[in-house]
Amino acid sequence: MEGIEKVCQFLEEAQTYYLATVDGDQPRVRPFGTVLIFDGKLYIQTGKVKDVSRQLAANPKAEICAFKDGRWLRVAGELINDDNYDAKVAMLEKMPELKAMYSADDDNMQMLFFRNATATFSSFTEAPECVQF
Ligand SMILES: Cc1cc2nc3c(=O)[nH]c(=O)nc-3n(C[C@H](O)[C@H](O)[C@H](O)COP(=O)(O)O)c2cc1C
Repeated sequence: MEGIEKVCQFLEEAQTYYLATVDGDQPRVRPFGTVLIFDGKLYIQTGKVKDVSRQLAANPKAEICAFKDGRWLRVAGELINDDNYDAKVAMLEKMPELKAMYSADDDNMQMLFFRNATATFSSFTEAPECVQF
């Protein structure tokens, strides 16, 4: 399995990860769950009306963290907007519960992919493992 696929699988199995953004000099963090590999890139999904979207537009630097079975994963990088219609459709197909709130045609659904990402798997017992994508 490729590194980016291991990252996606870990996030899927953890179910919830925490996304940190920068808001001026104030860190902001919130739970997220959406994740998808599309066209070789790791995507997450949000709504353009949300504060998190506004923060990423002003400063794309972001970090996510998830924990599962004694291991944790951090992915640090930039989250970049992508209005690709097919990426939105693929996310809605993977996570159909999103269809209650979003559609690929609305002005709100936002797909963001990681650029310049460094993912680090850590535990208390093993050496950290880094993946870049
Ligand atoms: C378990 C869980 C998963 C969530 N996943 C997402 C998600 O993938 N995308 C999203 O936009 N909001 C998701 N939310 C909702 C956001 O955490 C919530 O809208 C948050 O307030 C957004 O951050 P903001 O207020 O700084 O904009 C999730 C909430 C929970 C409890």
